[in-house]
Amino acid sequence: MCYLFLTIPNLFAIGILLKVIEHVANPAEFCKSLAALTVPDGATIISTINRSMRSYATAIVAAEYLLHWLPKGTHEWSSFLTPEELVLILQRANITVREMAGFVYNPLTGRWSLSDDISVNFIAFGTKNCQ
Ligand SMILES: *[C@@H]1O[C@H](CO)[C@@H](O)[C@H](O)[C@H]1NC(C)=O
Ligand SMILES: *[C@@H]1O[C@H](CO)[C@@H](O)[C@H](O)[C@H]1NC(C)=O
Repeated sequence: MCYLFLTIPNLFAIGILLKVIEHVANPAEFCKSLAALTVPDGATIISTINRSMRSYATAIVAAEYLLHWLPKGTHEWSSFLTPEELVLILQRANITVREMAGFVYNPLTGRWSLSDDISVNFIAFGTKNCQ
């Protein structure tokens, strides 16, 4: 879980939230607060995990139970957002999603790479609407 804000005084020009949103209690409110802190046209980058059967198997069973990358109970699968839900939540917060990509872990090379497969881990890039 990590986050990074590149700031100009008081407002964020770019917010990058990697593996954060699946841990917040109310993602819709969270995105609205995020949008309020972002300048018009400011970028928001959010990475998260889809609520798919595959993510259940990989993020929870593999990462928490088999590989012990994360403490058990780190993720609550039922609160994960699908890519469609994330787009809607951001839209309601006046952030338009411009790009979306999946990223996959290759256990053979130990590397993450971008892919078209957004079924498990995905990353969305959006910009705040100018009003
Ligand atoms: C989105 O933009 C509209 C139009 O300016 C504004 O009325 C509304 O409050 C904004 N919503 C949020 C969540 O910031
Ligand atoms: C994300 O998960 C939902 C719910 O399980 C599923 O319907 C959808 O197909 C998944 N999205 C992708 C791109 O796999």
